[in-house]
Amino acid sequence: VQTSLVGLVCLSIRLWKFVCLSFSEKLLVLTVATEETDGFHRFMQSARYFNYTVKVLGMGEAWKGGDVGRSIGGGQKVRLLKEAMEALADQEDLVVLSVDSYDLIFAGGPEEILRKFQQANHKVLFAAEGLIWPDKRLADKYPSIRSGKRYLNSGGIIGYAPYINRVVSQWNLHDNDDDQLFYTKIYLDPLRRETLNMTLDHKCQIFQNLNGAVDEVLLKFGTDRVRVRNTVYDSLPVVVHGNGNTKMYLNYMANYVPNTWNYEHGCSHCDDDVVDLSQLKEYPNVLVGVFIEQPTPFLPEFFQRLLTLDYPKDKLKVFVHNNVSVYHEKHIQKFWEENRNVFNSFKVVGPEENLSQGEARNMGMDLCRKDTTCAYYFSIDSDVMLTNRQTLKLLIEQNRKIIGPLVTRHSKLWSNFWGALSLDGYYARSEDYVDIVQKKRVGVWNIPYMAHVYMVKGSTLRNELKERNYFVLEKLDPDMSLCRNAREMGVFMYITNRHDFGRLISTANYNISHYNNDLWQIYENPVDWKEKYIHKNYSKIFTENYMEEPCPDVFWFPVFSEKACDEIVGEMEHYGTWSGGRHMDKRIAGGYETVPTDDIHMKQIGFDKEWLHFIREFISPVTLKVFSGYYTKGYAVMNFVVKYTPERQAYLRPHHDSSTFTINIALNNKDTDFQGGGCRFHRYNCSINSPRKGWSFMHPGRLTHLHEGLPTTNGTRYIAVSFIDP
Ligand SMILES: *[C@@H]1O[C@H](CO)[C@@H](O)[C@H](O)[C@H]1NC(C)=O
Ligand SMILES: *[C@@H]1O[C@H](CO)[C@@H](O)[C@H](O)[C@H]1NC(C)=O
Ligand SMILES: *[C@@H]1O[C@H](CO)[C@@H](O)[C@H](O)[C@H]1NC(C)=O
Ligand SMILES: *[C@@H]1O[C@H](CO)[C@@H](O)[C@H](O)[C@H]1NC(C)=O
Ligand SMILES: *[C@@H]1O[C@H](CO)[C@@H](O)[C@H](O)[C@H]1NC(C)=O
Ligand SMILES: *[C@@H]1O[C@H](CO)[C@@H](O)[C@H](O)[C@H]1NC(C)=O
Ligand SMILES: *[C@@H]1O[C@H](CO)[C@@H](O)[C@H](O)[C@H]1NC(C)=O
Ligand SMILES: *[C@@H]1O[C@H](CO)[C@@H](O)[C@H](O)[C@H]1NC(C)=O
Repeated sequence: VQTSLVGLVCLSIRLWKFVCLSFSEKLLVLTVATEETDGFHRFMQSARYFNYTVKVLGMGEAWKGGDVGRSIGGGQKVRLLKEAMEALADQEDLVVLSVDSYDLIFAGGPEEILRKFQQANHKVLFAAEGLIWPDKRLADKYPSIRSGKRYLNSGGIIGYAPYINRVVSQWNLHDNDDDQLFYTKIYLDPLRRETLNMTLDHKCQIFQNLNGAVDEVLLKFGTDRVRVRNTVYDSLPVVVHGNGNTKMYLNYMANYVPNTWNYEHGCSHCDDDVVDLSQLKEYPNVLVGVFIEQPTPFLPEFFQRLLTLDYPKDKLKVFVHNNVSVYHEKHIQKFWEENRNVFNSFKVVGPEENLSQGEARNMGMDLCRKDTTCAYYFSIDSDVMLTNRQTLKLLIEQNRKIIGPLVTRHSKLWSNFWGALSLDGYYARSEDYVDIVQKKRVGVWNIPYMAHVYMVKGSTLRNELKERNYFVLEKLDPDMSLCRNAREMGVFMYITNRHDFGRLISTANYNISHYNNDLWQIYENPVDWKEKYIHKNYSKIFTENYMEEPCPDVFWFPVFSEKACDEIVGEMEHYGTWSGGRHMDKRIAGGYETVPTDDIHMKQIGFDKEWLHFIREFISPVTLKVFSGYYTKGYAVMNFVVKYTPERQAYLRPHHDSSTFTINIALNNKDTDFQGGGCRFHRYNCSINSPRKGWSFMHPGRLTHLHEGLPTTNGTRYIAVSFIDP
């Protein structure tokens, strides 16, 4: 209570002083940046937001300060600061803040920094951290402190211009000598420490170094701004520095701080610097790299979606790597034959090339890199179902060096990005991961890892990422390798969830030993299964009562798509062993069938589990609608496809079914595939002579609906039948 009271008094005196002296104009930020990296732009954006006056030193100069991330170096920064300070040396009222920029953001404004600097009551204040660098042997020489961070960090320095000048004017080393060691030695000299009136910001009032302190900090959401709160010292640091290996954590914080995203306004920079495609004379060229690295369900549908992308096809070049011999080659061949002239070019690298996944991805990326007309490289794996036709345009408009559209596994938290990495570089869940996946937070997010689908600017490939083998690194999988390289080059990777882009399909448990394998995907990929196999008008049954009742209690409704019908028939003909319509039938209990058909049971092709699931998912809801009050168990033993031909079995004599109700789905077309056929219900003297492909009858099985199969007079008629709830 007392300290805060003292603080308050001081504050009001100083506030008054600020007003008089207009201190906010007396703070000058100096930063060294030789390149305009993504981190630099982010720094400048946060500085602009708070109206800091920033002077950038060294822009365009070659960096000779070494690889500061991994070893000592950074002397060039002191040299540049020394040169800049010479002109400012006599400005006694000027406070200079010298900070890094690539890995640093502002969380508060100049007035707050000045106030806190005044409170520190020293002429020069350095950032502090809990880890000592670069010379651990100096630890004992540090003044002891009761609490707080003990060691100096040179990523943040604030002080009166004449004093800063006196510090840096002592520099006479090389550009690749260590800046932090230089400052440390001055600070550790008790005499110089006192005459230069230096101290460290031990309790993170101004400077928060994240290295070794990630567990101390939290995001604090306010109405306009998001701050970083240090929970150990209960402070709100103004300068947040992702030093050491905490760049990723800074990236995460900067997705919010200072005003990037908050609960009130959502994303505030999402529409900054966007590309207006409508203003361009022509659309930029995109190289689409397609990677088929494992057997993938719904591959023909995947290719169809590429075709329906809303983008001029003559601006698209396609590169396909297929690592799945035989099985997918036929799909690619078919697509190529039908569409090779649609795109600007279409190149396929097949399994015979023996390329590893990493090599293939390098090859695709390099095709764009080497082609100076290639403006964007769009990489997509075969397990990504892009449902948004605008995806290419939306990503280009967002104007980032690397950006991926969020895609997720249907109704799962599985997605194509990670919000954080574990210490060993694998998946870790960030605090916001679930909210981003579920679109409770919408924006463009700087993230450490993405895979499956992303876009990279051609210019980035020819500059920051100009090496050729980003996908092969140690034993990492190719996408992890790319992402690690991008992180190390300081190229930010973003994921956008501003739109629905599509989904990830599951390639696990994809058994390709059937004839039409996607039919079996009803469990693993239910959305894609439904899209491919269920009739487009099926849902209208429930919304528009889209069904008919051609005979009493015989309901007629669309359920299967053309593809479902064709593939089921194809599957049965591929199996080929039709029963022949004999009374003796080993497949059924008792071994005797009174009204036999020429058929193949679903069980015989290993499709009974999937078929029953289909009944529960798509037939049961219709039952509930038409026989209200009856709750079907969706159980059936007899599930089969019947084949009627004049040569073998053409019709079925009148009979009852051993079911509570029966479904009978027409699998091909009257007149084109066969003549005759249909069904007659005796009790009502009612016939249905023109069955429709993909449509199902549903009628009670026992007692009321004695029926017969009318003769097929020409061609072959197929129907799928189930006796439900026997
Ligand atoms: C920065 O300056 C502009 C224009 O003077 C002002 O509207 C804005 O509120 C200032 N921003 C802050 C954070 O003080
Ligand atoms: C440092 O400077 C402040 C004024 O800015 C002064 O009050 C304080 O006594 C000085 N400390 C030392 C150790 O000289
Ligand atoms: C690919 O590998 C197979 C078997 O390992 C080998 O027979 C073939 O020659 C290789 N092809 C190429 C192009 O290297
Ligand atoms: C893909 O290629 C790798 C060799 O790079 C091989 O080990 C793997 O089995 C291939 N996968 C398929 C499905 O062919
Ligand atoms: C894949 O399907 C075949 C044919 O139905 C079957 O024999 C095999 O057991 C299945 N494999 C797996 C792993 O389910
Ligand atoms: C769906 O119904 C509409 C009329 O409501 C019809 O025009 C359309 O052809 C139907 N679609 C299919 C796939 O049968
Ligand atoms: C059944 O209907 C047909 C015409 O639809 C008619 O010719 C026939 O006489 C009817 N049979 C009986 C038994 O009512
Ligand atoms: C039977 O179908 C074939 C082809 O589907 C056709 O050529 C022939 O004319 C048909 N015969 C009759 C009697 O309709």
